[in-house]
Amino acid sequence: MLVNYSLLFLMFCYVICKRDPASEQLNSYKFSNHGKSHIMTGYGVPVYSKDASLTVGPRGPMLLQDVEFLDELAHFDRERIPERVVHAKGAGAFGYFEVTNDITRYTKSTVFENVGKRSPIAVRFSTVSGESGSADTIRDPRGFAIKFYTDDGIWDLVGNNTPIFFVRDPLMFPLFIHSQKRNPVTHLKDADMFWDFISLRPETTHQVMILFSDRGIPDGYRHMHGYGSHTFKMVNASNEAVYVKFHYKTNQGIRNLFAEEAASLTARDPDYGIHDLHNAIADGNFPSWTLYIQVMTFEEAERFRWNPFDLTKVWPHAEYPLIPVGKLVLNRNPANYFAEVEQMGFNPAHMIPGIEPSPDKMLQGRLFSYADTQRHRLGANHLQIPVNCAFRTPVTNYQRDGPQTFRHQGGAPNYYPNSFGGPDNAPGLQRPKFSISGDVSRYNSSDEDNFSQPSLLWRKVLKTDERHRLIDNIASHLKNAADFIQNRTVHMFSQVDPEFGVKLTESLKKHVNFH
Ligand code: HEM
Ligand SMILES: *[C@@H]1O[C@H](CO)[C@@H](O)[C@H](O)[C@H]1NC(C)=O
Ligand SMILES: *[C@@H]1O[C@H](CO)[C@@H](O)[C@H](O)[C@H]1NC(C)=O
Ligand SMILES: *[C@@H]1O[C@H](CO)[C@@H](O)[C@H](O)[C@H]1NC(C)=O
Ligand SMILES: *[C@@H]1O[C@H](CO)[C@@H](O)[C@H](O)[C@H]1NC(C)=O
Repeated sequence: MLVNYSLLFLMFCYVICKRDPASEQLNSYKFSNHGKSHIMTGYGVPVYSKDASLTVGPRGPMLLQDVEFLDELAHFDRERIPERVVHAKGAGAFGYFEVTNDITRYTKSTVFENVGKRSPIAVRFSTVSGESGSADTIRDPRGFAIKFYTDDGIWDLVGNNTPIFFVRDPLMFPLFIHSQKRNPVTHLKDADMFWDFISLRPETTHQVMILFSDRGIPDGYRHMHGYGSHTFKMVNASNEAVYVKFHYKTNQGIRNLFAEEAASLTARDPDYGIHDLHNAIADGNFPSWTLYIQVMTFEEAERFRWNPFDLTKVWPHAEYPLIPVGKLVLNRNPANYFAEVEQMGFNPAHMIPGIEPSPDKMLQGRLFSYADTQRHRLGANHLQIPVNCAFRTPVTNYQRDGPQTFRHQGGAPNYYPNSFGGPDNAPGLQRPKFSISGDVSRYNSSDEDNFSQPSLLWRKVLKTDERHRLIDNIASHLKNAADFIQNRTVHMFSQVDPEFGVKLTESLKKHVNFH
């Protein structure tokens, strides 16, 4: 009912008030709201006056018995939760995933069980290195996380808008992120930190090239692709497994912002990405993406010419073509940002039968990190929060209690085994066996190739003007780093292609002259 009035209002509004749906949010509430209620305390008792605190005489002091005041301030004091340690700034929306092509020969996941099947989804887009109030138009990878509310529980595909990543060992992740965030002394972003790390870890070359290319600043969140990035495993009904990668391609077409446009938007509308997504959905212009997989058999993975689980490399599309699977559609804005987006918690460890982790070290590292940070950020019962809970499958287990428990399990026994009909094992869902062998060690990646795919990107993919902008974007940032770091970085890019090094040196000279 409420929704219908809002829609009606929006239509009316377009004719009369000429403001976008995001700007009209409060008017739309006013239009659809019937009957005014009283202000109440958090415990539901009407408040007689919100205009003044309770004082002895008109000039104070105040009384401890002003419990309405205490209730108001105490709640306010607790309004913020820790922001995400990365990906703090973001936008969310809801919709559905629909299967368009049969892939049951690869996976038994019921989410893919028949063409036409729909499952509800939530998506959160984000930038990575800025804080919760930072601009949407900065050069940064974009997070593209999808939560599937499936018949078999929650499946989170927590991807980015790039098919690869900066580092290939999860031990490097916090160290890398530190170099991209603020200097702990100055509280400023620091070009020395940024490029020192990058140039000391040449495995970053591929992702850094994408970051400083045109794709480094997408035009909002609707005009970019998404990637699961890691290698995952799919298991079919005969318990046979293959390795897969997920791609989700935008149906709106790729659109990026050049550096100058982005800088001017950062000044004019730092929330450009949130605006764009909200208004598109409110206008009924629902963004969608087509989901594809790439498939590699275990035998192919054994023989492959490099480590297929190396997150700094893509699987060549010519050898591992994209297989269409379905579409992702976003058709509903959040009803409340904090409840439904800030409190959303994605976790790559949330997989459903038919989808499993591969040996990819980066993925394995992530399997720990997300639930850990969410227990800190959202609490021990974060999986009971409506937007996170597996609402399509009543969760039955032996976990009890903890702060803010409200989904409890009634009279069911809280210990196992028991004689009173508590939930039991699901032997049919046993994961297929797999064997691993090798010598335990801390393997560095000294022998792994860092430059072949960056070279292909430079020589075969980027056009002349795109290479120019890549060089210019790097130089305008790298110029702020110490000379020896600039040198080392130039050396790194020279290994992609000698011309890259030469052009970058020229461009750096020009930029320094502008100082
Ligand atoms: C070892 C590597 C990594 C670690 C330890 C790590 C850790 C984290 C942590 C702690 C968060 C905050 C989660 C929260 O507060 O809810 C986060 C968010 C996120 N990460 Fe990672 N991350 C890693 C690599 C990656 C990679 C490779 C991708 C993409 C392919 C990725 C995509 C994301 C996204 C999209 C979010 C935001 C999710 C949201 O919208 O709530 N991360 N990561
Ligand atoms: C499972 O995968 C194997 C190997 O790819 C295939 O031979 C078999 O037919 C698949 N099973 C089903 C039920 O699709
Ligand atoms: C690739 O880069 C890593 C660090 O990022 C380095 O340890 C390794 O030696 C490099 N590999 C080669 C072959 O240069
Ligand atoms: C990395 O591994 C190679 C080969 O195992 C070894 O020779 C080299 O010393 C190692 N480097 C570091 C920094 O551990
Ligand atoms: C950088 O490299 C140039 C030429 O290769 C050299 O002349 C210069 O001394 C180097 N600067 C630093 C700070 O290492």
